[in-house]
Amino acid sequence: MQPPELAAFAAECKQRVESALTAFLPSPGTLPADLHEAMRYAALQGGKRVRPLLVYAAGGALNADPQALDVAASAVECIHAYSLVHDDLPAMDNDDLRRGQPTCHRAFGEALAVLAGDALQSKAFHLLAHAPMGPLKPATRLHMIELLALAAGSRGMAGGQAIDLAAVGRELDIAELEDMHIHKTGALIRASVLLGALCADSLDDAQRRALDHYGKCIGLAFQVQDDILDVTGSTEELGKQAGADRALRKPTYPDLLGLAGARERAGELHQRAIESLAGFGAEADPLRWLSAYIVARTH
Ligand code: IPE
Ligand code: IPE
Ligand code: MG
Ligand code: MG
Ligand code: MG
Repeated sequence: MQPPELAAFAAECKQRVESALTAFLPSPGTLPADLHEAMRYAALQGGKRVRPLLVYAAGGALNADPQALDVAASAVECIHAYSLVHDDLPAMDNDDLRRGQPTCHRAFGEALAVLAGDALQSKAFHLLAHAPMGPLKPATRLHMIELLALAAGSRGMAGGQAIDLAAVGRELDIAELEDMHIHKTGALIRASVLLGALCADSLDDAQRRALDHYGKCIGLAFQVQDDILDVTGSTEELGKQAGADRALRKPTYPDLLGLAGARERAGELHQRAIESLAGFGAEADPLRWLSAYIVARTH
């Protein structure tokens, strides 16, 4: 299910976002050194970089400015890294392993992990406000800041995390579960696609609607697959504790639909994502490959 072209595209984009992040984050020696080390630890130690890949793929479909894409990809990955640091805290999922390494609070202590998350979040918005983004107009930057703020905030990721915490030990119906997943994970993925698209001057309304629908479908599919992998994957393969959802009594798609039902749902969402790209040609192929990858990935 993973075309060989995706591997080459992904390797190039990963390298780009990782060198951008390495340059954008304060150097390890910058004071306060422990905070900056914790931020770099959380943002630079592996990860699939799916959200940056989506930024580059959406931007690539519209011939977007490369410098602007590097900034947008770094900003969204800073928000994602922050969300993982806080998600792993003892007050939330209480996880010890992330990306095959001790979680940030395990390595640096809880207080510093809270601050590293806070500071990564601020870094994201500082980048969009301040870093060079080619010919991008100030109004477009402002729009990107608004979009990312909404996706990360109480009506997006943070809100979804609150729904997740309140759902522990409860039986949600499918609409409630979908609402939780759309917010905690879907919102940031959906925003990644639009951020990439906004790096192009040429984005029109129809393209924006199509890409937004694509992002909505794959954003939900991503968390459906995350739920599936929590059941089917090993801790070693995932780089995070397998079976954590059941241990924490979190409602999941496999719980509600069974594994086959959850896989079917992920497949449907992938199909809908592909259909929403019907107006695009081969320039949108990386978006198609990424949608296939999101529901077929093994970690
Ligand atoms: C994990 O995200 C958290 C969820 C939103 C499910 P990823 O699976 O993208 O984690 P990394 O960045 O590759 O480690
Ligand atoms: C994470 O959901 C959503 C975030 C906002 C980070 P999970 O709690 O399922 O993510 P993992 O499984 O720990 O990566
Ligand atoms: Mg969680
Ligand atoms: Mg978690
Ligand atoms: Mg999970």
